[in-house]
Amino acid sequence: MSERESTTILAIETSCDETSVAVVRNGRDVLSNVVSSQIESHKRFGGVVPEIASRHHVEQITFILEEAMKEANVSKDEIDAVAVTEGPGLVGALLVGVNAAKAVAFAWGKPLIGVHHIAGHIYANHIVEELTFPLLTLVVSGGHTELIYMKEHGSYEVIGETRDDAVGEAYDKVARTLGLPYPGGPQMDKLAHEGEAVINFPRAWLEEGSYDFSFSGLKSSVINTLHNAKQRGEQWSNEEIAASFQASVIEVLVTKAMRAAKEKGVNRILLAGGVAANRGLRKTLTEACEKADITLTIPPLKLCTDNAAMIGSAGTFLFWDGKYADDRLNGQAGLMLK
Ligand code: KG4
Ligand code: ZN
Repeated sequence: MSERESTTILAIETSCDETSVAVVRNGRDVLSNVVSSQIESHKRFGGVVPEIASRHHVEQITFILEEAMKEANVSKDEIDAVAVTEGPGLVGALLVGVNAAKAVAFAWGKPLIGVHHIAGHIYANHIVEELTFPLLTLVVSGGHTELIYMKEHGSYEVIGETRDDAVGEAYDKVARTLGLPYPGGPQMDKLAHEGEAVINFPRAWLEEGSYDFSFSGLKSSVINTLHNAKQRGEQWSNEEIAASFQASVIEVLVTKAMRAAKEKGVNRILLAGGVAANRGLRKTLTEACEKADITLTIPPLKLCTDNAAMIGSAGTFLFWDGKYADDRLNGQAGLMLK
């Protein structure tokens, strides 16, 4: 077996509210992927509280590390490198993972690898099906909405991004207005399937040819509609609001992704990030790709939301390219993807 065929990476992810450690072999075989979610702790505040997130990561990381190694049934000698999310994310949360990774790498004498969180979300797809290039990824998460063109492994060209709220953020904010618990995205998705899209909310297409997104206008429009309805004595059900909001979001995301794929001449699209769990988005994008003869990959739900296996997969390619970090590696809240 060549060295490239027997690479085992220990990966750590702590960028937001999930503490996760995974062991990944050859970038695709997930030997373990332990995820400890803090959602319950943040629920009563209606969103992630950074200070609480950091504290949870500190409490959890050692146990999760041990559990991931045990579940993978590998010894430390079999680990080739330690990969960790270095950004973007909450800086205090990132620091816990980065410092844990540094400590393990130093103690075990292994190379350290810094991984971009979005690269991780993209590589969740490589676990499902080997990536082939060129491809286009639609990244939709709580912090990001991006269209990324990749001509080869590790090469990222951001061709469109949100100018204000990320799509998951818009979902969560509208859900909050409707009085739904955090995180609102999954609840909105569920309600959307129980109602009709009877309200014609705006679609933010932006300038001709732009692949950028904007969701704050839509969010305001939902809030105004609710406000005006009260004054006029109109009644919209939460199901109708959710279905109408979701229809607007999906139409813009799918239309722009398909247009970008055509212009870039790609026949492969990946969906990535927490909002990739959205049933409506999965269905509409699947239908559009079938019609355009484009191969679509969508990770299973547990690989859509934050997890360390995706970081291990992306980290494997950095390891093969010899792109090691040194002991100056730091958590970077606003790290750019390049
Ligand atoms: O990727 P992720 O786990 O964390 C970030 O890196 O941001 O994404 C979390 C986001 C949250 O905003 C959550 O509400 C949203 O993904 N989300 C959904 C669904 N499941 C999760 N949004 C819409 N529909 C869903 N089914
Ligand atoms: Zn994420």
